[in-house]
Amino acid sequence: MSFVVAIDGPAAAGKGTLARRIAEAYGFHHLDTGLTYRATAKALLDAGLPLDDEGVAEEVARDIDLSGLDRAVLARHEIGEAASKVAVMTPVRRALVEAQRRFAAKAPGTVLDGRDIGTVVCPAAPVKLYVTASPEVRARRRYDEIVAGGGTADYAAVFADVKTRDARDMGRADSPLRPAADAHLLDTSEMSIEAAFSAAKSIIDAAL
Ligand code: C5P
Repeated sequence: MSFVVAIDGPAAAGKGTLARRIAEAYGFHHLDTGLTYRATAKALLDAGLPLDDEGVAEEVARDIDLSGLDRAVLARHEIGEAASKVAVMTPVRRALVEAQRRFAAKAPGTVLDGRDIGTVVCPAAPVKLYVTASPEVRARRRYDEIVAGGGTADYAAVFADVKTRDARDMGRADSPLRPAADAHLLDTSEMSIEAAFSAAKSIIDAAL
């Protein structure tokens, strides 16, 4: 049996960093499920295929190899935007959720982060965390990341993107982003990654 830590939350809330910290501390496998949607979107974009054909997108989603996902290759803003568009399609979600569930079953335990892990992918997970932060803080973090990486960005544009992505992820009909009823809420607006990790650790240790 595998022990699953399910982490959900909006873009740039800090769930990826927290998920990696937890996986490392407990020796669990980690899957950033956003990458599965990003890889699907990138494969469609690279092949010049439409982003709004459910049948084509589902076939591409079924071919995604979870072991070959690399955020560095999938980080581009256009890929994130396209990912949130293919993520509204039920056949795409069904294909990717199947693969994510197989991953979640790996021993001795797994950490999955995304938007619907506690609500849809692993509703029986013994630990569910909903990691959030204000849109202003999330936009500021995204902006600082871009600048630190040598890029240029406009804070107002980054903030507008965060709001658009939130609206699409929270407003879609299939698996909208929302906290599971039994999720622990972690607002990281004024919390360091260390503080977030130590809060998560107490919750996990109590459930292990
Ligand atoms: O987290 P990330 O920004 O990489 O996710 C890209 C997009 O994939 C999200 O905006 C969301 O629409 C979608 N996604 C999803 N369900 C997940 C993970 C990501 O719908 N479990």
